[in-house]
Amino acid sequence: FTKRTLLNKKIVVTAGPTIEKIDPVRYITNFSSGKMGYAIAIEAKKRGADVILISGPTNLDKPDGIKVINVNTTIEMLKAIEEYFDEIDVLIKAAAPLDYRPEVVSDKKIKKQDGSLNIKLVRNPDILAYFGKLKKKQILVGFAAETNDVIENAIKKIRNKNLDFIVANDVTVKNAGFRSNTNIATIIDNKGNVNDYPQMSKEELAKIILDRVEELLS
Ligand code: PMT
Repeated sequence: FTKRTLLNKKIVVTAGPTIEKIDPVRYITNFSSGKMGYAIAIEAKKRGADVILISGPTNLDKPDGIKVINVNTTIEMLKAIEEYFDEIDVLIKAAAPLDYRPEVVSDKKIKKQDGSLNIKLVRNPDILAYFGKLKKKQILVGFAAETNDVIENAIKKIRNKNLDFIVANDVTVKNAGFRSNTNIATIIDNKGNVNDYPQMSKEELAKIILDRVEELLS
């Protein structure tokens, strides 16, 4: 039995990777499975929140009772959040949106050619930074997928993206980060408090993250 501590709260959770097409048969993406974001959405729903899950392509089942909006690209993810941003209390960005997309999407399959092939990538918008600028009452929670200097990089992201707190995970560690059922996180808030958590299931980490959100809402 879960106490309905998020009743009347509207929460957008993003999950999974984004994908960016190169041509009709190829795309670029990353290793995100969506498990972390789906676990947060499911726990928020159990606590009574009105949850909207904005998901990149994953192999996960649609969770019961949660409105799911499926997107492919980073720009589509931004636009989907924009539909709801004014009316929500919390945005949790567990997704791993691609920072770059091919400058040109070929409308025909690119043929093999001699020598190497160059594909120019251009920057995608930083979704969290965009909403960090628009933020009024909303609580903004980011993730930081790092391979080095985890804490320093996470602190920079809190500032640049105007976040309330960030969940940093070192994606080079076994049983943490992408794809695994468990994660190992450090939560850093915008006052500089740092809390390290041991390895735990993504469901358990979702509870800790939502406990922190509830503290900020109260
Ligand atoms: O999906 P799983 O397999 O369960 O894996 C979980 C996870 C490792 C993907 C997740 O825990 C995680 O770390 N998600 C964030 C991945 C990421 O994009 O990290 P980043 O350090 O590049 O981005 C920092 C923050 O900015 C993130 O909240 C991200 O959603 C956001 N971002 C990033 C790029 C971009 N263009 N716009 C963004 O808003």
